[in-house]
Amino acid sequence: MANEFSRQMKCLRRLVVLGAVVVAAGVPLTAQTDPGVRAGASAGGPISGLTSAQLALFNAAKAAFQEVDSVTGTEPGAAGKGLGPRFNMNSCAGCHAQPAVGGTSPFTNPQIGVATEFGAVNTVPSFISATGPVREARFIRNPDGTPDGGVHDLFSIAHRGDADGCTIAQTDFAPQISAGNVIFRIPTPVFGGGLIEAIADSTIIANQTSNAAVKQSLGISGHPNFSGNDGTITRFGWKAQNKSLLIFGGEAYNVEQGVTNEAFPDPRETQPGCGLLGHPEDNSLAGNSDVTNFGLFMRMLAPPTPAPATASTNNGRNLFNQIGCALCHTPTLPTNINSIAALSQTSANLLSDLLVHNMGPGLADQVTQGNATGDEFRTAPLWGLGQRIFFLHDGRTRDLLVAIRAHGSNGNAQFRPSEANAVINTFNNSLTTSQRQDILNYLRSL
Ligand code: HEC
Ligand code: HEC
Repeated sequence: MANEFSRQMKCLRRLVVLGAVVVAAGVPLTAQTDPGVRAGASAGGPISGLTSAQLALFNAAKAAFQEVDSVTGTEPGAAGKGLGPRFNMNSCAGCHAQPAVGGTSPFTNPQIGVATEFGAVNTVPSFISATGPVREARFIRNPDGTPDGGVHDLFSIAHRGDADGCTIAQTDFAPQISAGNVIFRIPTPVFGGGLIEAIADSTIIANQTSNAAVKQSLGISGHPNFSGNDGTITRFGWKAQNKSLLIFGGEAYNVEQGVTNEAFPDPRETQPGCGLLGHPEDNSLAGNSDVTNFGLFMRMLAPPTPAPATASTNNGRNLFNQIGCALCHTPTLPTNINSIAALSQTSANLLSDLLVHNMGPGLADQVTQGNATGDEFRTAPLWGLGQRIFFLHDGRTRDLLVAIRAHGSNGNAQFRPSEANAVINTFNNSLTTSQRQDILNYLRSL
């Protein structure tokens, strides 16, 4: 395996040298096409090898992830409680939906429906559409010009039948949009999350320092994002800003749904008349809390199963490695010893180094999280890519080819050039149309 990779690294050096010659040949760039979303669902079940007790925990935990919340827990079909006073959606599974529970944005955006559910009168903001991605919105700056970066929820519970007395006004996004102050994030899938959590920091660092010469020749560096408190590597979220599935779940419960919990016990809004239940609204006083269940479900959720290989996808995978995509999108990282045997000392085929990289002004969102700055993003894990509908942190495209080319970006006064520029130049200029097609076919087989 290691020998195969180093052989491909040697090819890469040759290809980089060839680049200039092939550009002159003028290879047409328009003919290859994204094969589109692969049908079926290659994910959503438990990871294989769980004990029967673990499987029972997984199934109970999945119900919590799918639970729909209302304010009081008394609305039909919405038995969970604590929603709002502001929210983006009413269940984890609403946003993490495609191609199965735990995934990402579905074809039809459920945020349109929740805007006016149970009597609410929210206006759907301009950046949300029925066929567009689920989005959360962050503001770049506060009104006084200092950095914000936090999530501003789309909707309020005011006027809902179960929100008596809460009159909190919906945020008006239009002036913020006009001022260029809003950036978007789409849901990252959580399939295989337990394997990502189980990778040792030392493994991430060893992978970072591997292939140093070829990375340096291509301008690829990257660094981990760290927890400010325990000093270990954080790895979840578009900027690898979050430590664990449990913490991400607790934060999402408060941020996306407005449900306070044992990880995030304080309400984000304290307007009188809103927040009628005691905090934390979700707790362990009567058994496992929802947040504990979210963690258990995501930890034991299987990674996606790729489609069977074909000659084209095999060739695409080799090219992906040879031209340097794999220098950031590391195909496989081994996991550490783990308390769940199914996660212990096995392979995570995530296609990510879990590092953040400078991606240039074209992708920059000007938000700093931990030590990931305004144009730095975690190498998106590509497992399950074949069944994703929307790509990149803000969901700007449904076209794989556009997503790949968007990696390339010259520097400006604020941001350095993208670390991916040399690799993307090779992709654009040194491959034939049919080689690029093989890479797209490979990516859609994931
Ligand atoms: C409104 C839609 C929405 C809802 C509801 C939602 N999420 Fe997410 N989720 C997101 C977005 C957007 C991101 C990426 C956030 C970022 O990195 O800025 C995300 C990322 C995550 C991640 C990180 C995965 C990774 O590898 O990066 C986890 C874990 C997660 N969500 C768990 C949950 C849980 C648990 C719930 C239910 C409490 C939930 N989410 C509810 C939109 C949502
Ligand atoms: C310098 C590191 C780096 C290199 C090299 C690189 N990528 Fe990426 N890739 C990233 C980062 C970081 C993201 C997330 C960017 C964002 O969302 O703004 C990403 C995102 C993607 C996505 C979108 C995934 C999603 O979930 O939306 C695809 C597809 C992709 N890369 C394919 C490729 C291919 C194919 C190559 C080689 C031609 C490549 N990448 C080379 C770092 C890299």
